[in-house]
Amino acid sequence: MTADPTAPGPPAVELRGITKTFPGVVANHDVDLEVRAGEVHAVCGENGAGKSTLMKILYGMQRPDSGTIAVRGEQVKFRSPADAIKSGIGMVHQHFMLADNLTVLENVVLGLPGRFDPAAARTRIGELSARYGLGVDPDRLVEQLGVGERQRIEILKVLYRGARVIILDEPTAVLVPQEVDELFGNLAGLRAEGLTVLFISHKLDEVIRVADRITVLRQGTTVTTVEAGSVTTAQLAHLMVGGDLPTPETRESTVRDEVTLGVRDLSVRSDAGRDLLSGVGLSIRAGEVVGIAGVEGNGQAELVEALLGTRPIATGAVTLAGEDITAWPTSRRREAGIGYIPEDRQRQGLLLTQPLWENRILGHQTRPPSSRGVFISRRGARKDTERIVAEFGVKTPGVDVPAFALSGGNQQKLVVGRELSGSPKLLVAAHPTRGVDVGAQALIWDKLRDARAAGLAVLLVSADLEELLGLSDTLKVMLRGRIVATLDPATVTPAELGEYMTGVATQEATP
Ligand SMILES: Nc1ncnc2c1ncn2[C@@H]1O[C@H](COP(=O)(O)OP(=O)(O)OP(=O)(O)O)[C@@H](O)[C@H]1O
Ligand SMILES: [Mg+2]
Repeated sequence: MTADPTAPGPPAVELRGITKTFPGVVANHDVDLEVRAGEVHAVCGENGAGKSTLMKILYGMQRPDSGTIAVRGEQVKFRSPADAIKSGIGMVHQHFMLADNLTVLENVVLGLPGRFDPAAARTRIGELSARYGLGVDPDRLVEQLGVGERQRIEILKVLYRGARVIILDEPTAVLVPQEVDELFGNLAGLRAEGLTVLFISHKLDEVIRVADRITVLRQGTTVTTVEAGSVTTAQLAHLMVGGDLPTPETRESTVRDEVTLGVRDLSVRSDAGRDLLSGVGLSIRAGEVVGIAGVEGNGQAELVEALLGTRPIATGAVTLAGEDITAWPTSRRREAGIGYIPEDRQRQGLLLTQPLWENRILGHQTRPPSSRGVFISRRGARKDTERIVAEFGVKTPGVDVPAFALSGGNQQKLVVGRELSGSPKLLVAAHPTRGVDVGAQALIWDKLRDARAAGLAVLLVSADLEELLGLSDTLKVMLRGRIVATLDPATVTPAELGEYMTGVATQEATP
């Protein structure tokens, strides 16, 4: 797919010489980006390379220290996103910003100035939905929608405001492969209608598949812009890191005899009495990784919450290293050796306004190095944070900066480093490499394998099939709150797995 270079007219967007500094960090340095009208343009680069900062500048959320922005050949200065929207630029953030208890229609019109005409809004949503193939029902409640659908609402919301240039910051991080295909179908629809798409992703095969051209950023500056058809994933990775990628090592089983986690007949019901989790049973032995595959919203989140003790259960029992922990509060479970990488690092994993070293303490208040006796040890926490920063390659000017100052992928590395600290017995890992670049992903996988070899039991929930197949010793598929299949990751193909996840293929009920 190549945009016609002979097409008349100026670029949809042209950024020149953009520089933006934060205390101790140059996020963008003399960045150039030219986006042609009607193309899908991807922006790639390592965690902390400056991608989100550049997009926020284009969307008027942040102001550059220097540099210029032109939209369709005309220079603009944005003071706020409202200004950007007036120039036809819209952005969908990685963390969705929809109100759960409102309908799709209410969410789309939320915050718009002027008098609200529901009939006109419904017609317009219907038209946009049909025109771009979004399949949106204006009267559904947002809380009933899956991630893929929510993302389409966010896109529709941006289209509704008249955007001609749509920025998507890591839209596929939360999607399973089937949903990625749907999204790419939608993007093709937008492109066919002459819209321009700016797309950020760490999944290089995806980038090459969906983009017309790719701009690579490294350490805050533009390396090059290439035609997507002219590069391989390996070449792209090389451009990003300026060197070769570590290759994932092969591995052998480290599964031991002791059962670390035992789950029997676990059920969770919604407030309305609906079954969210029904009769789930599984066990994870020391040194074993059990992967949970499934389309998001099929009970994975409830399973994780039930194991952590943050959600009441209707039936069932949970054991940790032989001890019944079903009635234990979360703090006691954590102290007993359950590490936890939450699916939403910003809402559940970090205190964004607090410094990194305080975040090291979070969830680990009562254990060294965060504590000495009953006291919090600042020194111990700071020192150990420095260790994590070094070991996991967290890009930061120091351990005193607030967590919000880290790029998304670097926040994730910090959380993973913290949760692997202090030799946990069990790690409940939800999307452990969500939003990290390919190099950091390989590093985190290696760390998880090392911990597993040392006897860690891991429950791995992930939307990334490569990760599930590559790390798991056993694979379970969840559908509508039940475990519907148990598969061998060494032999199952991604296509077969997809069929179990969507209920096309079924197995005899597993006990
Ligand atoms: N509000 C802020 N305050 C201080 N530093 C910031 C702020 N926002 C970003 N930075 C820093 O700017 C640099 C670029 O961050 P940015 O979020 O643009 O990276 P990114 O390329 O989007 O990375 P990722 O792939 O991890 O999302 C990072 O070093 C980050 O720590
Ligand atoms: Mg980012």
